[in-house]
Amino acid sequence: MPSNAHTNHSDDVAGETLTDGGLEGFNLFDPEVQQCPHAYYAEMQKESGVFETDVFGTPIYLVTRYEDVAACAMNPTTFSSRFDAGSMEGNSEYGRRSQELYDTEGGYERIGTLLTVDPPEHTRYRRLVSQAFTPKVIAQLEPTIRELTGELINQLISSTSQGTPVDFVEAFAVPLPVAVIAKALNVPDDRLADFKRWSDASVAGIGTNISIEERLAADREIIQFQKYFAAQLESRRDSPEDDLLTALLNATIDKDANEGIDSTPLEIAEMLSMIQQLLVAGNQTTTHLLGEMLLLLEEHPEEWKRLTSDPKYGSSVAEEALRLAAPTQGMFRVATEKTQIGSTTLPAGARVVLVYAAANRDPEVWNNPDEFQPAREAQAKHLSFGKGPHYCVGAGLARLEVRIVAEELGKRLSAISVTNRSELRYLPGFVLRGPERVEVVVNDKGGMNDG
Ligand code: HEM
Repeated sequence: MPSNAHTNHSDDVAGETLTDGGLEGFNLFDPEVQQCPHAYYAEMQKESGVFETDVFGTPIYLVTRYEDVAACAMNPTTFSSRFDAGSMEGNSEYGRRSQELYDTEGGYERIGTLLTVDPPEHTRYRRLVSQAFTPKVIAQLEPTIRELTGELINQLISSTSQGTPVDFVEAFAVPLPVAVIAKALNVPDDRLADFKRWSDASVAGIGTNISIEERLAADREIIQFQKYFAAQLESRRDSPEDDLLTALLNATIDKDANEGIDSTPLEIAEMLSMIQQLLVAGNQTTTHLLGEMLLLLEEHPEEWKRLTSDPKYGSSVAEEALRLAAPTQGMFRVATEKTQIGSTTLPAGARVVLVYAAANRDPEVWNNPDEFQPAREAQAKHLSFGKGPHYCVGAGLARLEVRIVAEELGKRLSAISVTNRSELRYLPGFVLRGPERVEVVVNDKGGMNDG
């Protein structure tokens, strides 16, 4: 384990702190590795750039160099996103019991749509969702995001006014993205708590191990989620509204310009899958990024000072936090044929992880890659939103949210203190990485908490 395992990201002096064992015994799913994985990734980059590891008896190839990760992401023919195809889940105890649950509770068929399919099937889904989730829809959310952010900052100020820390993750970074996507999906306020549970259930078990009972409990929540949104979609067939659900329902592919893409409109089960993916892909990722950005700002007083005197600096701060913190550390692919990455030969069927978090700190692309430098050049080249056909659908929304938060923190607060830095823990998952609790006390510019 690197000796800096419990320190925060930007001070990870990648590669310098590996103990004698180096990469020997490295386990991607070890929660201790996930406390500070960057030194390992840097070591992998120094070697061949592709590291073969073993997860529960299956070899997995971690691709860590920027150019390789980007090239694989751009090549869905060889690096398929159907990484769950051929899994034995259907025959496993969980697979069987889960199917029984869906049958008895009247759940909808679970269809792979965006994240887990390849072109041309993927192209159809992507074109249809793009008609509903447009830049205009995203821009319209700006006033809501600013208002929600302002309210959450007010709460932070008042609840820490006596110097008692609050957990920024729970008090701020969790509720904001959930409320924003709920607003985009037109979920009423009294269903927000349900909506949050459904969202958590949708990511349960991703990149981490949970028991069969826990997975089935998550399935029960997802069935409730399906029933709620199926009813909402059906009601919009008769009474359309000016919202994303109606736009999904009405999305069509132009038959004359469809270049061989299936132009059938979306079925309910397909729409449910897409809505679920908006949650899966959007909530925890944004939560983690907000926590990481706060930690980075507190750790770098000169950057924080610049932000407080120039809140417009918020977009650079947000982008650099994205590069360094990569909330989606990596995504799976499966090789459709025997192929070569650098000096490594991968057999057909090889399971591959595109390690975006590693690529973002590739010294071939960035100078001093482990340092937090919001003013650096070529910052937005990072791969935190992926690249190619699966490039994040919600990148515009995530950027908007995180920029607004950075701007508003800079406008409203004079100081932030993180009080649990020495005990800071990262969640155990590999795919979605972020801090568990970030306890803070804040001072507002009006002086309410000063002294
Ligand atoms: C900081 C926040 C976010 C990060 C770091 C992030 C990261 C990513 C990454 C890396 C991918 C590519 C996956 C791959 O390579 O297979 C992706 C795809 C996706 N993201 Fe995001 N995301 C964020 C926020 C959001 C938000 C807010 C939404 C929706 C509201 C969203 C929806 C999606 C969807 C639907 C996909 C699948 C796209 C496809 O396969 O065509 N994401 N995201």
